[in-house]
Amino acid sequence: MSNTHAAGGSAPARLRELLPDPGRTDVRPEEAYAYPTDLDRPWVRANMVASVDGGAVGPSGRSLDLSSKPDRRVMGVLRGLCDVVVVGASTARHEGYKPVRPREVWAKLREGRPATPRIAVVSRTLEIDDELLTAAPDDARTLVFTVENSPADRRAFVARHADLVVVDEYSVRPRHILDALSERGLYRVLTEGGPHLLAEFVAADLLDELCLTVSPHLLGVGSPRIVAGGPPVPGVPGVGTAQTTPLRLAHLLEAEGSLFSRYLRA
Ligand SMILES: NC(=O)c1ccc[n+]([C@@H]2O[C@H](COP(=O)([O-])OP(=O)(O)OC[C@H]3O[C@@H](n4cnc5c(N)ncnc54)[C@H](OP(=O)(O)O)[C@@H]3O)[C@@H](O)[C@H]2O)c1
Repeated sequence: MSNTHAAGGSAPARLRELLPDPGRTDVRPEEAYAYPTDLDRPWVRANMVASVDGGAVGPSGRSLDLSSKPDRRVMGVLRGLCDVVVVGASTARHEGYKPVRPREVWAKLREGRPATPRIAVVSRTLEIDDELLTAAPDDARTLVFTVENSPADRRAFVARHADLVVVDEYSVRPRHILDALSERGLYRVLTEGGPHLLAEFVAADLLDELCLTVSPHLLGVGSPRIVAGGPPVPGVPGVGTAQTTPLRLAHLLEAEGSLFSRYLRA
C-alpha cells in the first residue's frame, strides 16, 4: 500500500456497506475494522490493494496507481488502529516509508498508546532509509528484523538507532516476528506486504485476516499478485507451494467503485 501520510483536509470519503447489511450508507471504518478485544497474542491483519484483474503493482512500480481517497481513508484508519506496521524492506524502499506521522483523528483510537504505530521492517541487506531508523519517536521506535549474515557495519548503525532483532538463521520467519512483537506487547499487527513477505505469512499459516481493496482498474500481465514467491527460500517451508486456507467474509464495503473486503480465517 502507498505510504501516504496526508490526513486530507476535505470531507472523508463515504463508505457504504454491501454485506452483511446493505442498508448502511456511512460506515465508520474505526468500528468495521476494530481488532478483537482482549487479545493475548499478536493478531495479524494484512491490508493489500489489487486491480480487478489481480495485479498488485502498477506501472509506477508502486501500489499508488490503485489508490483512491476512500482507500487512503481505510488505510489511515487501519494504521490508527494497529500497534505496529510490518513490511518487507522492498516495500519500504519502493513506497518511501518514513516513521508514521501522528494524526489528530487518531487521538481517541490510540488513547493509552503511543501517538503512532511502530514500523517494523524485515530485511537481509539492511538497505533501509536512514530517516526511518533515526527519526521515529522514542515511544514508537522502528523495529528491524534481520539475519546474522546481514552486513555488520549496517547492523551496528541500525542497532544504534532502532530496535534490532537478529535471527540466527538464513531467513527471518514469520514466527520470529510474532514472538518478538509478543514480547513487546504489540498485539495489533498490520502488515502492508509486500507480496513476498505476505506470501511467507500465508505459507506459515499465520495470517488472521486479509483486508483487500479491489480497485476499479485493469493492470494486465506483468503485475505481480498480492502474494509472490521466488525460488524456494531455505528454511522457509511452503513458500511457492499452493495451499488452501479457508476464509470467511466479514464485510464488504464500497466507495467510488472500490470494494473493501475483510476476510477472517474460517
Ligand atoms: N498492492 C499492494 O497492496 C502492495 C502492498 C505492498 C507493496 N506493494 C508493492 O510490492 C512491491 C514490493 O513487494 P515485494 O514482494 O517485492 O517485496 P517485500 O515483500 O515488500 O520485501 C521483500 C524484501 O523483504 C526482505 N525479506 C522478505 N522476507 C524475508 C525473510 N524471510 N528474511 C529476511 N528478509 C526478508 C528482503 O529485504 P532485503 O532486500 O532488504 O534483504 C526482501 O528483499 C513494490 O512494488 C510495492 O509497491 C504492493
